[in-house]
Amino acid sequence: MIAPSTTKPDVHIIGTGSYTPERVLTNQELEKIVDTSDEWITTRTGIKERRISDPTTPSSVLATKAARRALADAKIEGSELDQIIVGTVTGDRIFPSTACILQDNLGATKAHGFDVSAACAGFLYGLSLGVNAVRSGAAKTVLVVGVETLSKIVNWTDRNTCVLFGDAAGAAILRSTGEPGGILAICLHSDGSLVHLLEMPAGGSLLPPSHATVDQRLHTITMSGNDVFKHAVRAMESVGLECLEAAGHTPEELDLLVPHQANLRIIDATARRLGLPSEKVFVNLDRYGNTSAASIPLAVDEARRSGRIKAGDLVELVTFGGGFTWAAAVVRF
Ligand code: ACO
Repeated sequence: MIAPSTTKPDVHIIGTGSYTPERVLTNQELEKIVDTSDEWITTRTGIKERRISDPTTPSSVLATKAARRALADAKIEGSELDQIIVGTVTGDRIFPSTACILQDNLGATKAHGFDVSAACAGFLYGLSLGVNAVRSGAAKTVLVVGVETLSKIVNWTDRNTCVLFGDAAGAAILRSTGEPGGILAICLHSDGSLVHLLEMPAGGSLLPPSHATVDQRLHTITMSGNDVFKHAVRAMESVGLECLEAAGHTPEELDLLVPHQANLRIIDATARRLGLPSEKVFVNLDRYGNTSAASIPLAVDEARRSGRIKAGDLVELVTFGGGFTWAAAVVRF
């Protein structure tokens, strides 16, 4: 856990950026692909459309566009970065890391980079590593990215999952400014006993790619939606409260909650349990669906650019994902 400190430097988010592919896939189009309806998807999830990347476009392309926007927002050059952290489960390759591709694309010649695998919690896990690097003095300027091209690992014949996911990238630049506030607390959790609730079974060392794994579509997302739903609501509430307490704040003091954008019913339940009115909860999943590690940084960037997050606002970011992983961060912008 990261908690406020009087002896360690502050860490601020000094710039954000995001990118979503141009191609919009609507619920009506999905009706033609699987046995579903706009009505079912809207009432069960809140999703109306999602963005889908071109089949030849890898995650690093989305990540690079989001990172360039974050650098421009922070008014710094790629050459000033010391560390690049990419949260993703759909990196360009199993290795090398997508962070290394990004380092080259951004001309970040003095930066080192690595990927973090924590599913939908990938951005907040990366954020905690970046904060620790700045606080310890190991890095002055850190780029944290969440990026996914989940369309590449979705089973487009499975109506239980294919309606939920989308592609996107979001990025944040971290640096100490000497001002009060910034990232006040981060709390991270994992429970590996729940691994089978949400996974891509094959492609790793457990089940290396073979004709059989391809034939059985084991290189795609499988999910026990109902079980994930129940765990998600409990996890989001508990880590949300834990992290606020660690930061020395209460839910009433929040200006905005930015929850992982997986399902409107999960978001509503979390807000209710934290006692937050809907106007204090950021929602954009109607336009993007669940973009996993990109969900939180995309939402933060949209909230900042639209004025929903203003300088001085107290904001909580809260997420859950495969693993199981769940996490929260409290930030004074
Ligand atoms: N269209 C129409 N019917 C559908 C669809 C669909 N797209 N998908 C499922 N159904 C049917 C099911 O087959 C089932 O029918 P049956 O009763 O005849 O068997 C019925 O709808 C109800 O299915 P449930 O799974 O019980 O529906 P539920 O209300 O739980 O909603 C959902 C499903 C939306 C997946 C929900 O459980 C959910 O959002 N879970 C959380 C998922 C999530 O957030 N996952 C991402 C985690 S983040 C990460 O790490 C990537």
